[in-house]
Amino acid sequence: MTDPRPAPTPGPEPSPSHRGPEHAEPPAFAREVWNTRVGFILAAVGSAVGLGNMWRFPYFAAEHGGAAFVALYILLTFVIGIPLMLGEFSIGRRAKLSPIGALRSVGGRRWTPVGYMFVLAGFLILAYYSVIAGWVTRYAIGIIFTGFPDDPGAYFAEVSSGVNAIGFHLFFMTLTIAIVMGGVEKGIERASLIMMPALLILIAGLAIWAATLVGSADGYRFYLAPDWSEVLSLDTFGAAAGQAAFSLSLGMGAMLTFASYLSSKESLPREGTVIAFSDFGIAFTAGLVVFPVIAALGLQEAVGESTIGALFIALPGAFDAMGGIAGRTVGSIFFVALFIGAVTSAISLLEVVTSSVIDEFGWPRKKAAVTMGIVIATVGLWPAMSLDALGAYDGLTGNVMLPLGALGIAVLVGWVMRNPIDELVIGSSERFRPFYKGWLWMLRVVAPILLVLVLWSTIPGAFEALAALFQ
Ligand code: PHE
Repeated sequence: MTDPRPAPTPGPEPSPSHRGPEHAEPPAFAREVWNTRVGFILAAVGSAVGLGNMWRFPYFAAEHGGAAFVALYILLTFVIGIPLMLGEFSIGRRAKLSPIGALRSVGGRRWTPVGYMFVLAGFLILAYYSVIAGWVTRYAIGIIFTGFPDDPGAYFAEVSSGVNAIGFHLFFMTLTIAIVMGGVEKGIERASLIMMPALLILIAGLAIWAATLVGSADGYRFYLAPDWSEVLSLDTFGAAAGQAAFSLSLGMGAMLTFASYLSSKESLPREGTVIAFSDFGIAFTAGLVVFPVIAALGLQEAVGESTIGALFIALPGAFDAMGGIAGRTVGSIFFVALFIGAVTSAISLLEVVTSSVIDEFGWPRKKAAVTMGIVIATVGLWPAMSLDALGAYDGLTGNVMLPLGALGIAVLVGWVMRNPIDELVIGSSERFRPFYKGWLWMLRVVAPILLVLVLWSTIPGAFEALAALFQ
């Protein structure tokens, strides 16, 4: 299909290898593309849905007033999440390049460092994400084959330290590298087509089962009946906005990179809405599993104690307390679902780094994926050995680098990119143009103001955590 755009948008520095497929002359330079629209959507939902939905979301909700946090989170997903996602999509599909080249092509040379920051964020997030995913892998295998530990706290201490933690982190990285080596269609798309439907079924099944628990009502009440006093704090606001960016994989170029493999037939607003709703739907459903289970077993206290407590100590304790084959089955399903979510997110993180190396240095995909994967695995050894380091990586990336990256996207698309609205019209309809103007103003004014507020509230904490590491 021919591109309906009036004229190709020439980047400030066009180079032969930096052109989209419509210009691709020698096949060696042809950019990979998604085989199907569903493949793209599932891969993007796969990137979005992960530990963020099942670990970070319920935990943040528990910490910040339950339903009040959930309401704020929904609002922020609409007001800044979806607009930013469409911003990343527009940049990626227009430039048909991975983040560094795409930002340079759309915004000029000055934007190159922001591209590097994106790649660095991908690096650091994957480094600790893979450590947590390693614990999840270990839990899944442990529960399936040997059942629950008697003392979940001691079990967690064992899984999250020493050889265990490092070994499963390296295993998880190896799996991620293997999928990304396969490329966009044969690796990422294929893996997502199999894993995402499985994940949806598992989570939905768990939520239905949780509703049958005696005592689950308290969990629903906490989760669904807001404590409004919490919403008014800057802290809650910062946490909700940061979580919205983290959960939608925004602010580090994952969505941008995936959109760079997308054809001009597809409507970005349509795909963006489907993806954001799916992500929220799964995070929300995960809450419908976690809170009733914890309330039914009277474990509310344990959740508040640490980020990790909710998922790795309270929940296994709850599944175990149910006893017998039921607890074990449900527990295994939960950790397998979590594992699937983690894999499909990790591949998007590695893909940002890999595709940048392919585009910038002309490396073949396999070499790029393996080399970068090994470097990231090495950077992950520190969080694998220290929970404090893990918390600091999470704080620095999730609370600072992603909101900062999101601010960059908002400014670039809102103020610098030429005719961004055209990119939304392509594949959708001229009729919606006035509506898309509203989108642009969200990015120009609303998102930057909110993101600056977020950074204001999060930067001190993140740097304190980092400084503490070096004391
Ligand atoms: N969105 C993923 C999750 O919720 C994490 C992620 C963040 C993935 C940034 C890619 C980029 O788990």
